[in-house]
Amino acid sequence: DLMREALGLKELEAALQQQLNIERVVVVAGDSDRSPWVKKEMGRACVACMKELLEPGDIVAVAGGTTMAAVAEMMTPDPKLHDVLFVPARGGLGEDVENQANTICAKMAEKAMGRYRLLHVPDQLSDEAYASLVEEPAVKEVLELIQSCRMVVHGIGEAVTMAKRRKTPPVEMEKIIARHAVAEAFGYYFNEYGDVVHKVKTVGIQLEHLPHVEHVIAVAGGASKAKAIRAYMKRAPHSLLVTDEGAAKAFVGE
Ligand code: F6P
Repeated sequence: DLMREALGLKELEAALQQQLNIERVVVVAGDSDRSPWVKKEMGRACVACMKELLEPGDIVAVAGGTTMAAVAEMMTPDPKLHDVLFVPARGGLGEDVENQANTICAKMAEKAMGRYRLLHVPDQLSDEAYASLVEEPAVKEVLELIQSCRMVVHGIGEAVTMAKRRKTPPVEMEKIIARHAVAEAFGYYFNEYGDVVHKVKTVGIQLEHLPHVEHVIAVAGGASKAKAIRAYMKRAPHSLLVTDEGAAKAFVGE
């Protein structure tokens, strides 16, 4: 903690807490846009928060992305996590396998020596196929587990970057751009005011569920995500934010 004080991280945390009007912020040293190890440091900090807040028997819903992959990588076993169940926060969002919530959920649970359940819902489905799939007992059961989670851990992305990474069809891409989306989190695209301007169709945690989830941890850093984090946080005041100095300084400097 003395080290963190010397680096001025505590001050950055206090400034961010006030600016973003959220309860708790953890800032790690460095900028993940420039140094890849900083993402792992955010992962480590997130794991510490998870261990502090989780209780045996809890269900944790985890999202996808490279930052969440770093959280999974930094996960370590803990007696408290022994009886924790890990589930993916949402179904397919168009990510490559290594960035999918299912993959990350399984890896995180293995590292924690906890349990996991996966959600097998393809990305592209007709409305009819969709409607019948969610009635399948195996899918329905996992969806119910997701909806009763006590913690959600997720990443935040820059809107256009995410839309490109997911190979979003041109029509949707135009909509995302025309509506000035700046942020994305678990399938929702937000403008700078935090309004939802587009949503990827899939099952799992919905934005409306978040206020009822006891602990929501958002993990996102890098100066390039500053705008996205600010926009998204307007919608998620009871979240805990794990970020880095790069993003934090970009806010404070504004
Ligand atoms: O697609 C899953 C997801 O969690 C998005 O909701 C988020 O925008 C993105 O990944 C973050 O990815 P990364 O951590 O790689 O920037």
